[in-house]
Amino acid sequence: MKGGLLLKGGVLLKKVGVLLNKGGVLAKGVVLVVGLYLFLKFILPLFTAPLPANLIFLYLVLTVAGIVIFGTISGESTEEFFGPIVRFLSGEGQTGSMKIARLLVLVLFPLLVGWQTYATAVPSDMPPAESRTIHPAPPGEFVGLSNPIPNTPENVMMGKGLFAAFCSPCHGANFDGKGPAARGFDPPPANFVDAGTIAQLQESYLYWRIKKGGVGLPVEGMPWKSAMPRWELELPDEWVWKIIMGEYDGAHQKPRTWE
Ligand code: HEC
Repeated sequence: MKGGLLLKGGVLLKKVGVLLNKGGVLAKGVVLVVGLYLFLKFILPLFTAPLPANLIFLYLVLTVAGIVIFGTISGESTEEFFGPIVRFLSGEGQTGSMKIARLLVLVLFPLLVGWQTYATAVPSDMPPAESRTIHPAPPGEFVGLSNPIPNTPENVMMGKGLFAAFCSPCHGANFDGKGPAARGFDPPPANFVDAGTIAQLQESYLYWRIKKGGVGLPVEGMPWKSAMPRWELELPDEWVWKIIMGEYDGAHQKPRTWE
């Protein structure tokens, strides 16, 4: 059964090959473009992150430009390249299925372009794909956790020390997000002095962000997929809680509590 299928596939490939040889530059170009599209769209993502649609489009346009240049390099090849298109569209001496195919193309192509234009122009009630609510909700297991470390001067001191050691290269010795390594990150490291960051947040939220960071998030984690390291692999929980304490104290902010 399987062998039969393989055989059939082989025969089909052979037929396509023969057609290609007869079809000249145009047919080869079409196969190349379709093949490239399928490769970029479906095969490449198996190995790396999927390409954005506009990049795929750019590659295809470049490829088509290359094929057109190659196909029109001499008068002879130009005729070979455009001949089939012109003959098909002008309908010269066409009969039967070719005639119908030509009609279909002539009717469907304007409809397709119209539909495409409509689809891009019509206002949509879907939320934009990358709406940035500044702070995402932490996953359930982190909701409502409270800092188990007593808020003593020693613990705050230790938290600040740990912060200086692990976090200040990016978030800055003054907690202002201007550490020596901060430049070059997009999104930039958070500025904890700014009233819009940790002052808006609960300790449980910080605990989640510090433990999971931004690098471990899947692609869908945009825009929280950032350079923020995933500290759960390196710092014991107790240190993370102490760092949170030192962070608030150093930035002169207070964690948000449920009023
Ligand atoms: C390699 C640079 C880097 C280091 C080191 C780093 N961070 Fe970050 N951090 C970032 C970046 C980049 C962001 C991204 C800002 C965002 O996603 O909003 C961030 C975001 C955060 C946030 C989220 C703030 C918010 O408003 O959502 C917290 C909290 C945080 N970092 C705490 C820490 C702590 C604590 C440490 C040390 C244990 C640390 N970071 C070390 C780069 C770093």
